[in-house]
Amino acid sequence: MGAVLVTGGAGYIGSHAVRALREAGVAVVVLDSLVSGHIEAVEGVTFVQAEIADTAVVRETIQRHGVTAVMHFAAFLSVGESVSAPARYYTNNVGQTLQLLDAAVQEEVAHFVFSSTAAVYGMPLDTPITEEHPTQPINAYGETKLAVERALPHYERAYGLRSVRLRYFNAAGAHPSGVIGEDHRPEIHLIPRALDATTGTGEPLEIFGADYPTDDGTCRRDYVHVSDLADAHLLALRKLESGSASATYNLGNGRAYSVKEVVASVARVTGGAVDHTFAPRRPGDPAILLASSERARDELGWTPRFEQLDDIVRTAWVWHRAHPDGYQSRP
Ligand code: UFG
Repeated sequence: MGAVLVTGGAGYIGSHAVRALREAGVAVVVLDSLVSGHIEAVEGVTFVQAEIADTAVVRETIQRHGVTAVMHFAAFLSVGESVSAPARYYTNNVGQTLQLLDAAVQEEVAHFVFSSTAAVYGMPLDTPITEEHPTQPINAYGETKLAVERALPHYERAYGLRSVRLRYFNAAGAHPSGVIGEDHRPEIHLIPRALDATTGTGEPLEIFGADYPTDDGTCRRDYVHVSDLADAHLLALRKLESGSASATYNLGNGRAYSVKEVVASVARVTGGAVDHTFAPRRPGDPAILLASSERARDELGWTPRFEQLDDIVRTAWVWHRAHPDGYQSRP
């Protein structure tokens, strides 16, 4: 097996996948524009600063490092922004990804592991959500991820590129070492915002909607640890290398926690109160997102190590406490 090119490897989930690959002895080269990634997240890793659409650099990197597989994390990720600025999302998440795919195909890369999202499902019709659930995104972010998912089988038929599409639910937590973690700017995700509200470094947490048809009125989400997501990438790569067919997998914990339960967990773990207020619903938020990850468990042999919400929050807290302002480098 050759090296793995990890695009977006300086980002949140990408940097955790890089760790998992290296711990497994896989040769890695990270390609990241650092538009939102952090150079400290990939210390000691072979690194190329470039856009994925810079075909000449991508091709040269593939050749130079003997890359046989690509893990593609680099993307814009804000659902809200994708609604107000869809052009940015289509250009970056679809257009530039197609350029990356062209480079990979031209260099005869064999395998492609793609970061997709539960946002491809839109408003869930059934819970838990299986991979057979209809894909009807309700925002441009989900549409762009689905567009790439749908391109991949065509690339396989025509050019032989086999792929695994991984649909993440709510990525959360940090590497247990506390050395790498979540640092989005602006931060839009619940757990880091709740941690900020505890330490008093951020605004009070706004809870978006307390009138949902759930037990406590707040949205329920399936929080899955970022290191468990990273493990799934390694398993997906191994599966492709063993000659298995291309596939799509949900990655979630299989349990849904409400926003209020997350707030309670953050208070338990940190020993502090989470300063919060109640705000109107955020547009486009489904009441419940809960994954069935049976297929990933059965076919990849994936077993999440962090099942309990408190354990996930604890790792986020270790990171947050050690890096209250996130990484030093500013994208
Ligand atoms: N929430 C708040 N206050 C905040 C932030 C979030 O109440 O300040 C609530 C949201 O309304 C939601 C829950 O906390 O009910 C989780 O919100 P996040 O923003 O952390 O995550 P989302 O569920 O919106 O989105 C995540 C990923 C998306 C992905 C989606 C579906 O960030 O990329 O899951 O997979 F599309």
